[in-house]
Amino acid sequence: MSVLFFKRFLKRPLQIASIVPSSRVLVERVANKIDFDHAGIIAEYGPGEGAHSRELAQRMRPDAQLLLFELDPAFSRDLKRQFANDRRVHVINANAATIGGELVRRGIAQCDYIVSGIPFSILEIDKKRDLLRQTHDALTPGGAFIIYQVTNELRQHAIDFASANSEYVLQNIPPMFITVFRKDSMRNGNGATDRATRFSSAPA
Ligand SMILES: C[S@@+](CC[C@H](N)C(=O)[O-])C[C@H]1O[C@@H](n2cnc3c(N)ncnc32)[C@H](O)[C@@H]1O
Repeated sequence: MSVLFFKRFLKRPLQIASIVPSSRVLVERVANKIDFDHAGIIAEYGPGEGAHSRELAQRMRPDAQLLLFELDPAFSRDLKRQFANDRRVHVINANAATIGGELVRRGIAQCDYIVSGIPFSILEIDKKRDLLRQTHDALTPGGAFIIYQVTNELRQHAIDFASANSEYVLQNIPPMFITVFRKDSMRNGNGATDRATRFSSAPA
């Protein structure tokens, strides 16, 4: 068991929402949903101590970028240490809800994939819907939002997405649903046809 993970759970049980990191099986099943040849920009919400981030970084293209949004300062410090030698990975010690501003600040138009481990089910309904809207806007047309959750309740709220496909993974404590929400491949949030375009390289 990760000592850091358990300590942060004791400090902020509702925010961390789990006493152990994701299992190896869950990490691999989530990463298998991503077409890494076509993943230039990946964001991760709630990486914790980095179980999924390490797998994503290992499979990512050399020119891809991984943006890690982690609220907890101790996890963020540890992630910065882990990825100190990987210029593709950017640790952002902030709420995932700041993704829109962060993309603008870094000259990134949209993400190809957003992976989320944050406990959506305990968010208030307004915050949940707001984060879903921002996530949808932050994705390129055809991009995917991939979540792993104990319940599958988010499906009823993620109404902006064109499709949702779930798989249940028993080999995790606790067992989890992985759901892939796919954004319509023709349309952006505002109805315009668009493509993800990077305007400049991101700051470190
Ligand atoms: C259940 S843990 C998942 C950790 C890791 N992804 C894993 O699977 O082992 C949830 C993580 O989400 C973070 N978190 C919760 N709400 C967040 C938010 N709004 N923005 C960014 N991170 C958040 C917590 O600090 C915690 O690290």
